[in-house]
Amino acid sequence: MTEATVLLLRACLVLLASPIYILSFLGIWEPFCRKIFFPFFIENMCAVHEKKTKKRKQDLFSNLPDFKSRSGELKLLEIGTGCGANFQFYPPGCKVTCTDINPNFQQGLSRSMNKNQHLHYERFLVAAGEDLHQVPSGSVDAVVCTLVLCSVQNVTGTLKEVQRVLRPGGAFYFLEHVAADHSSWKYFWQQVYYPTWKLVFDGCCLTRELWKNLEQANFSQLNLEHINVELPWTPITPHIIGYAVK
Ligand SMILES: C[S@@+](CC[C@H](N)C(=O)[O-])C[C@H]1O[C@@H](n2cnc3c(N)ncnc32)[C@H](O)[C@@H]1O
Repeated sequence: MTEATVLLLRACLVLLASPIYILSFLGIWEPFCRKIFFPFFIENMCAVHEKKTKKRKQDLFSNLPDFKSRSGELKLLEIGTGCGANFQFYPPGCKVTCTDINPNFQQGLSRSMNKNQHLHYERFLVAAGEDLHQVPSGSVDAVVCTLVLCSVQNVTGTLKEVQRVLRPGGAFYFLEHVAADHSSWKYFWQQVYYPTWKLVFDGCCLTRELWKNLEQANFSQLNLEHINVELPWTPITPHIIGYAVK
């Protein structure tokens, strides 16, 4: 009964969003989404998300200096940097390498860089988290991923790359939205929204149980907390936040 209801409501959403499905069928939606819609949406959506998570992020990133290398440097690589919403939380002098699969965030990224001149921006790589071959193994002290693992094609492959580029003792920081409790209405609506949400928001999957991927990855230490980020009228309330040590 529930599965049938999910399918029925999904079909209603597909009908409502049919212009987008048609544009996608014609090969127009994805390039438009990547170039125009998503960069605009991310900068504005992230402002709302940031308000709700600012205190949490401040606490999360407060121990970044503990992961400086022996030379006193902190080399940080961010996967899926987007418009650079996390720059403000990194400590002064931190050497940042930005990576994103989508090269169309220049405007928002430049604005964040101008606002955060306490950092050294080393490189911007157009790269998928699953393939960071431009980054040597064991070369960074910290990797950051926020609101990205929902969209990567291969979560396990991305976490393998994270572990490869981290030096031993380096840390992986994450804040990600995840699947709700399977017995909740939230999960019901996540299932209903899933295909249309994924199409509209550039591959974002609503029902990933990312804590399981993190538990299965071979980190020596995992600090992970389940939290709710109140974003009314959206299916992305449940989040995980924390850091793992290689
Ligand atoms: C919701 S945005 C989050 C941006 C930023 N991390 C933040 O917290 O504001 C998701 C970002 O992940 C990027 N992305 C999606 N798939 C990716 C992949 N496979 N590898 C790297 N980045 C990816 C998108 O281009 C986008 O910039």
